[in-house]
Amino acid sequence: MPMDGKIRRAGPADADNIAALVNHAFLAESWFKSGDRTNPEQVRALLGKGVFLLLEEAAQLMACVYLESRGDRLYLGMLSVGQKVQGRGLGRRMMQEAEDFARRAGHVAIDLRIVHVREELPPYYRKLGFVEAGTEPAPDFPGVKIPIHFVLMSKSLQA
Ligand SMILES: CC(C)(COP(=O)(O)OP(=O)(O)OC[C@H]1O[C@@H](n2cnc3c(N)ncnc32)[C@H](O)[C@@H]1OP(=O)(O)O)[C@@H](O)C(=O)NCCC(=O)NCCS
Repeated sequence: MPMDGKIRRAGPADADNIAALVNHAFLAESWFKSGDRTNPEQVRALLGKGVFLLLEEAAQLMACVYLESRGDRLYLGMLSVGQKVQGRGLGRRMMQEAEDFARRAGHVAIDLRIVHVREELPPYYRKLGFVEAGTEPAPDFPGVKIPIHFVLMSKSLQA
């Protein structure tokens, strides 16, 4: 069932909850990497150069996404939906909010990157209008158990 949560921008006081949500959601990657995806210190550092949009339902954090302006493009990362509420359209909603944010800010495109072994993700992002835009090595990816690289995906916001 779709959920009608409220979107707001995170502040430093949200760092612990964001880190917990991201780490829980990214357990999806635990079969090829060990350790947490992030921690509150890293989230606070990211809040110094970008924004986290949060989706809350009854004061509970359900989903988040990190957005960072890089020139005229928007980098999107850490899209995370609570494991118990995945598959209900919250990820799609966060991606729409990110796109609205990007358009308001005048960005020409949104960029994201995924680990190549997450084969379920390119079809997910393609449905949202993203296309593959190349690959990138991931030599410093922490805790990986197998060789990995990134797949870059982008969505143009220009007509
Ligand atoms: C990837 C992720 C953000 C998707 O969010 P989500 O809220 O589960 O996805 P949505 O409900 O918006 O799904 C969108 C589409 O994918 C399908 N889908 C995704 N996850 C599904 C699930 N668990 N069950 C059923 N359908 C699912 C939906 O059918 C939907 O298709 P539709 O729009 O044609 O109906 C979420 O699963 C997640 O947080 N994963 C772990 C962290 C992660 O991998 N982040 C991305 C890193 S790049």
